[in-house]
Amino acid sequence: MSKIVLIGYMGSGKSTIARLLSEKLQLNSFDLDYVIEEKEGLTISNIFKDKGEVYFRKSETQHLTSFLQQQKSYILSLGGGTPCYGNNMELLKQNGIITIYLKASINELYNRLETEKSKRPLLANKTNEEMKDFIAKHLFERNVFYNQSKLIVSVDGKAPEHIVNEIFKLLV
Ligand code: S3P
Repeated sequence: MSKIVLIGYMGSGKSTIARLLSEKLQLNSFDLDYVIEEKEGLTISNIFKDKGEVYFRKSETQHLTSFLQQQKSYILSLGGGTPCYGNNMELLKQNGIITIYLKASINELYNRLETEKSKRPLLANKTNEEMKDFIAKHLFERNVFYNQSKLIVSVDGKAPEHIVNEIFKLLV
């Protein structure tokens, strides 16, 4: 039984790596953001807009908890904030779950997120200037949680296939 959970800041490549790893390991992959969207019947952006971040964080914890109870083997990619709220990181330290932090630098994240911030409610109305400062502070706060992952893989400048091979070697 394999339970693999991908952790990392927005733009660190969690969804892409989950898809490739799922092909390589022949395991189903899930994305907690999509699970939430499906169950709530709203996009993440609209949940933030209509119901607010506090509601989103509560429902994120609920959906994470029930996902971890139901599924046997999986690859799950989390939202960037998931490990940092409530008791989520403690839930993720349960026996049998392998958490992997996809670690990217501030510059790498800034370059990746600059062109796709509109999909992310926490970044959507920031100027590019503001974004770099925001990422730096936010990552500093969140690293306390991310660094509690079982495995840490640096992703800067690496092709997704390379990252997946690195993870594969750490898992076998
Ligand atoms: C968030 C990251 C998003 C999504 C929501 C909040 C965050 O997921 O869960 O917008 O707090 O970092 P991605 O990391 O998949 O963009």
